[in-house]
Amino acid sequence: MSSDDSFVDRVQHLVSDNKRSLLIGAAAVVVAAGGVAYYVASTRGAGGAGDEENVKGDKKKDKRKKKHKKTVKDKDGPIIEERKPKAPEVSSELEDDKVLTADEIAELSTEERTKLAATLKQKGNEAYQARSFTTAADYYTRAIALTPKPEPVYYSNRAACYVNMTPPKHELVVEDCDAALKLDSHYLKALNRRAMALEALELYEASLRDYTATTILGKFQNDSAGQAVERVLKKLSTQKAAEILATREPRLPSFTFIYAYFAAFRPRALPALPENPSTGDNTLILALEALGASDYAHSLSFVNEAIEQGISWDAGKAEAFNLRGTFKFLIGETDAAKADLQASIDLLPSMTQSWVKIASVYMEQGDTAKAFECFEEAIKHNPEDPDIYYHRGQVLFIMNDFAQAAENYTKSTALDDQFVFSHIQLAVAQYKSGNLANSMATFRRTLKAFPQRSEPQNYYGELLLDQQRFQDAVEKFDRAIEIERNKTPTNVLPLVNKGLALFQWKQDVDAAERCCHEALRIDAECEAAVATLAQLSLQQGKVDQAVRMFERHSELARNEPELVNALTYQYASYAQLEFMKNYPELASQLSQLASGM
Ligand SMILES: *[C@@H]1O[C@H](CO)[C@@H](O)[C@H](O)[C@H]1NC(C)=O
Ligand SMILES: *[C@@H]1O[C@H](CO)[C@@H](O)[C@H](O)[C@H]1NC(C)=O
Repeated sequence: MSSDDSFVDRVQHLVSDNKRSLLIGAAAVVVAAGGVAYYVASTRGAGGAGDEENVKGDKKKDKRKKKHKKTVKDKDGPIIEERKPKAPEVSSELEDDKVLTADEIAELSTEERTKLAATLKQKGNEAYQARSFTTAADYYTRAIALTPKPEPVYYSNRAACYVNMTPPKHELVVEDCDAALKLDSHYLKALNRRAMALEALELYEASLRDYTATTILGKFQNDSAGQAVERVLKKLSTQKAAEILATREPRLPSFTFIYAYFAAFRPRALPALPENPSTGDNTLILALEALGASDYAHSLSFVNEAIEQGISWDAGKAEAFNLRGTFKFLIGETDAAKADLQASIDLLPSMTQSWVKIASVYMEQGDTAKAFECFEEAIKHNPEDPDIYYHRGQVLFIMNDFAQAAENYTKSTALDDQFVFSHIQLAVAQYKSGNLANSMATFRRTLKAFPQRSEPQNYYGELLLDQQRFQDAVEKFDRAIEIERNKTPTNVLPLVNKGLALFQWKQDVDAAERCCHEALRIDAECEAAVATLAQLSLQQGKVDQAVRMFERHSELARNEPELVNALTYQYASYAQLEFMKNYPELASQLSQLASGM
């Protein structure tokens, strides 16, 4: 579990800085780069105070809004709108409350029909205000039947009646809003109403399309529309994630991810084989050797095979269950992982690794109390095992308890000062708790102590980047890239970081993208590179390209929370693409909004 917090922070900044290009700064971003997934929920809503460009052009609408009659008190607000304030006078000879037959209608002139329809609508409005929704709907129906060219407001108002009926007739709301929007695609009230009806019908994709259009057409000024987008996005992503997970083949995450995960555990010697090793015993050794060589696919198939063949001694079995459980955890099969890790502990209660890993399973399930219990248990068996304190530090770190985290990292380094991550994490925790001088000192010591490791360079670079010391940061990333260049396997995170740094420093999107593509050339499944590329595409208003990256990111998601997050972006971009298709005249404006920030 090597942490990667500041990287996440910065991607999140990138996201929230671009919330308009993202439509709404949707929800959250996950970068699963450091061996454990850190979820950073954005609490930002949409819109907010707009700049001048957003305000201009709204004046006319505002005036019209003021003319709206306040009607029935309703969470939908002033629900009946007078879109044509100059309601035509109705000639007195028309008996307007009478239901006309088809023949009678046929005899009326177009002008007479239009006038009569307006009167009927007026009566509908009155009935609506009196909360006689069925009567009101009836008036609107007659108005619509009368005129060859019904006003969009007739449909929209009738939709408002359907909303207010008990139970609400959401399907009819959708139909009427369809009709109103066909006549006026910029009709915000109708869009809004249809969005709500679709949400009630659990047709989230369509609802999202409408809320998105409402938000953009409203120039991001309507906060509750922005919140609606986030709400529906969340429902949609959760629903889609469940569908995907029900059918998807389980598989291992990216190399970068697995490598980072295993790097968080100190290497251990191979277990001593019994005198007459069984076939399964030998296969277990093959699995552990493959793991040592970072050949995860083989390690996984060997360990499965070893358990099938049968392992002859308890410590070996405990190793095997620990390893298989770890792979299951990485695949996202949390419950199965827990069972294996538990089996490993039952066989060998002093197995620190299994305790620590069960703790991370509990963390993933949000049960921190249980996670801490596991650390206590582990300490009972091995009070001097540095792994325990390092990983407890990680948990405290995730919980933003940086002081205690720092204490635990320090204890870990005191027990073993050769493990690079406890030093790095100590420095990052010091930084997080505002102790800049200590943090820098720890980093400098660590750089010196581990000249051949890229990680101190990389994370120090992140810290510098966080302080906007761009040039220094890029230097560190370059050094880290150089160190990694001579290694197999290559850790590509410094490359992605360099890309982000160049983007933040010089807005050099091309260079940033090149770095990410280079990272993907080395590890095609590097989540951080895919997520960054997606954000960079959005930044430039290249929504279709962003969509492809978000789709890829969803494919790479390891578990449900990650998948939900990835899908959030994916569907937010779909909605934006659809908006550009439905409102081509505004599409260019939208990409200006996206790029001109
Ligand atoms: C803002 O959006 C909400 C939710 O979509 C909607 O109910 C409300 O009528 C909108 N307000 C305006 C002024 O458009
Ligand atoms: C580590 O964290 C725990 C809290 O979980 C705390 O009780 C302990 O004092 C910290 N420090 C060390 C050195 O263990």
